[in-house]
Parts: sequence; structure tokens; C-alpha cells
Amino acid sequence: MNKDISYNYQGKVALITGAATGIGLAAARAFANAGASLVLAGNHLESIQKVAQALEKTGAQVLAIACDVAVEEQVKNMMDKTEEAFGRLDFAYNNAGVMSRNTETSDLTTDEWERVMNVNLSGIRHCMKYQLIQMKKQGDGAIINCSSMGGLKGAKGLSAYAASKFGVIGLTRSAALEYASQGIRINAVCPGFVHTPMEKTVSGGSDEVLKEMATMVPANRFCEPEEIADAVLWLCSSGATMVIGQALAVDGGITA
Ligand SMILES: NC(=O)c1ccc[n+]([C@@H]2O[C@H](COP(=O)([O-])OP(=O)(O)OC[C@H]3O[C@@H](n4cnc5c(N)ncnc54)[C@H](O)[C@@H]3O)[C@@H](O)[C@H]2O)c1
Repeated sequence: MNKDISYNYQGKVALITGAATGIGLAAARAFANAGASLVLAGNHLESIQKVAQALEKTGAQVLAIACDVAVEEQVKNMMDKTEEAFGRLDFAYNNAGVMSRNTETSDLTTDEWERVMNVNLSGIRHCMKYQLIQMKKQGDGAIINCSSMGGLKGAKGLSAYAASKFGVIGLTRSAALEYASQGIRINAVCPGFVHTPMEKTVSGGSDEVLKEMATMVPANRFCEPEEIADAVLWLCSSGATMVIGQALAVDGGITA
């Protein structure tokens, strides 16, 4: 989080999926730093609990939940536990996602297609569905879905990933129209290249490939996870009250 920006989210409840690593972890820290109570969800309970314990030491109130976002029942359970613990949900950052294996579309298997779509696209639908049920009762809330620059332009070898992330924007924009008049704002964030564990899936762990990727960025470098968290916290804030149904690229200029 940039030191010259601060938010006061005391009394607010923020839910983050895929919160154990990368961008989700940066968002969890940023919301905690702003005083929010947290619901942290992820598909590895132990990793989520570790993050929760660390943030509790800084004074945050945290509920850690094991949840595979691809499984609707588990997402419903996540929201039931959220309501039980906090009685409300102000902000949701639906961040959990997976990268697809680099392969030409003619070689893409149905298993791989479904693996990626089930997490990246159905996962967002499941999360939004139960978050919206809660937010409609309250009459307010903000949802940020994680798309990608791969949701704004095609990506050779990554058609399953791109299709899932284009889909996230379709879901975001359509739901945003449905709930804009009910006090609920829904937007998407579209990160460019970000230094997280996911970069290894793309680069194969090669520093040379990472350097080459950075030359594709007008800003000449990868984003830091905290820079994506900055955008998420802003989209939740009273500084963004008329920002509705947008897909905000935070990519150092790549999609420009
Ligand atoms: N790193 C990048 O360059 C980049 C670029 C654009 C978009 N993104 C998107 O940002 C989001 C976060 O990715 P990241 O870069 O921090 O990588 P990451 O791999 O560190 O984070 C993904 C998180 O999601 C969790 N997750 C995966 N499948 C899950 C499931 N079924 N249920 C619940 N949790 C699950 C993982 O455990 C992990 O903690 C993803 O949606 C990704 O597509 C990343």
C-alpha cells in the first residue's frame, strides 16, 4: 500500500478468496491495515490459517475458511459462516484463480478447459451469487472480481485462461447493471504481469523469460501485488461511488 493513501474501513467486513498468497494476501493485509474485519478463504486451510494468525497479531479480527470456489456448496458454506460471525459483508474481492497450461487450442483437453473454467469463471459466479444474497438484504456492498489483462486481449497458448477471464468481465458488467440501483457496486480488476507465485507458472521459473516479459510493459516492470490491492481498496471506497461495471486494467500500460 502506498504510504500517502489510507482508508478507514473500521466496522467493515471484507471477504477475500485465494487470500493465502500473491495478490489475495496483499489485499488481506491492506484491508487489515485499513481496520476491516476479514473473512479469508482459500483451498488450503493451513495456509489460510497461517495468514489469519499473522494478521490477528496486528489486531485484525479474522475468520479463516477452507473453500474451493469451484464447489458451490463450499461457497454457500463460506457465506453462511460469514453471516454467522459478522452478520454482514461490505466488500468482497473474488480473487482466487488458476493459470492454464500453455497449449495450442487444438491440443487443449476438456479436463484442462473445465479445471480452469470451474475455478476462474464458475468460482466467481458462485461467490457473487451468495455475496449478493447477503448484500441485497443490507442494501449495500461492493464486489470486485479478479479478471486479468488476459480478459481484455487474447493470449496465445492460454485460450482457456483468456476465455475464463473475458467471462469474468461479462458476469461483472451484467450483474453490475442488475444491482446498481440497489446500492451494490460490482467491478473487475484486470492485473497485468504481477510478481506472485503465478508468474512461475507462466515463466517456468526462468529469470530470462521474466526479464523478457517485463520488456512488454510500458512501465518497464512487473506490478507488485500491493499495487493491485491498492486498486481493489479504491474500488471499494467512497472515492469510487459512481464506478460501476468497469474492468479496471492495472497493468503498467500493456493494454493501452
Ligand atoms: N500474477 C499475475 O501476473 C496475474 C495477472 C493477471 C491476473 N491474475 C489473477 O490474480 C488472481 C490471484 O493470482 P496471483 O497472481 O496472486 O497467484 P496465486 O497463485 O498466488 O494466487 C491464487 C490463489 O488462489 C487460490 N486458489 C486456487 N484455486 C482455488 C480454488 N479452487 N478455491 C479457492 N482458492 C483457490 C490459490 O491457493 C492461491 O492462494 C488470479 O485470479 C489470477 O488469475 C494474476
